[in-house]
Amino acid sequence: MNGLREKDSITVLAIESSCDETACAVVKDGRTVLSNVIATQIEIHRRFGGVVPEIASRNHTLAIESVVKEAMQRAEVSERDIDAIAVTYGAGLLGALLVGVNFAKGLAYAWGKPLYAVSHVKGHLAANYIDSDLEPPYLCLLASGGHTAIVKVEDYERIKLLASSRDDAAGEAFDKAARVLGLPYPGGPEIQKKAKEGRAVFDMPIPKSNGLDDLYFSYSGLKTYVINLVHKLQQKGEEPSVCDIAASFQKAAISQLIDGLTVAMKSTGIKNLAIAGGVSANEELRKRADGLSEYGAEVRYPKLIYCTDNAAMIGAAAYFMIRSGAQESGLALDARATVPLA
Ligand code: KG4
Ligand code: ZN
Repeated sequence: MNGLREKDSITVLAIESSCDETACAVVKDGRTVLSNVIATQIEIHRRFGGVVPEIASRNHTLAIESVVKEAMQRAEVSERDIDAIAVTYGAGLLGALLVGVNFAKGLAYAWGKPLYAVSHVKGHLAANYIDSDLEPPYLCLLASGGHTAIVKVEDYERIKLLASSRDDAAGEAFDKAARVLGLPYPGGPEIQKKAKEGRAVFDMPIPKSNGLDDLYFSYSGLKTYVINLVHKLQQKGEEPSVCDIAASFQKAAISQLIDGLTVAMKSTGIKNLAIAGGVSANEELRKRADGLSEYGAEVRYPKLIYCTDNAAMIGAAAYFMIRSGAQESGLALDARATVPLA
């Protein structure tokens, strides 16, 4: 025990490098962000149509020192003000994660601070605590490039998985559909842009569940539908309407998420709701989620900057771990490509 748990105020320096964003943030008491620096590699990976793991690792190595320095400068803190170091240890790309994990270990050792290992998914959930008064219990729809799930957050550290995807994640489906439509990576924001100019004229498949016991997500059917539709139109010599296909895809993809959240809300009776992960940046999803207020639900979503990958959410998650009595990770911490969701 380092006594940190009982301290009046806890300031965490957090590092995130699980995919193509090198990020560092300084977060006070889980809800106040003193700085949030993100060096994105999107432009570097765009020409390959997706993230190239080896290139991601190298660029994290190049960026990490200056990103951490900038986060400290912007927060106007020195090493004395930092109570703990937090780092994403998984899930993600192993080589990419290792850059953040090893840098965090170095800092923890050099400064003599406790080190906490944070799951990336838990970080996405914690994004909803930033600048908000959200408290468990609540249901969270998590939709990112790697995960699609509904979880019941019973307590800050007690999370129960209610439903997840049987195949592709929602964000992955956005990225793949965008690719077929000739739109750049990452596909989510591009599809959203095109969908605004199109009409949802294609009736795309939405899996239906019968209740909480059989609640799941599936995006491979929707992805295949888009691929086949584009090929069929091309074979007939017709130019596919990218805007109409994007609008139809987005409607079906979002409907599936909202249907699932509605089933979970009705079955559990929990009306305190949140959405998180990269796809929660989607305007249509936010609008449809707001519509659940019709059932008396209160829906939260993170500010746009905290939806996609960032370190502030990792700092927020670490704070609640510390307050709940989580163990320090120690300097033998290793990175993990996969981490159980709950
Ligand atoms: O959470 P995130 O940054 O990284 C992972 O943990 O995967 O999520 C990235 C995913 C990508 O698939 C991206 O296309 C999607 O989130 N995304 C969106 C939007 N912004 C990002 N999907 C739909 N609409 C958006 N506006
Ligand atoms: Zn993420």
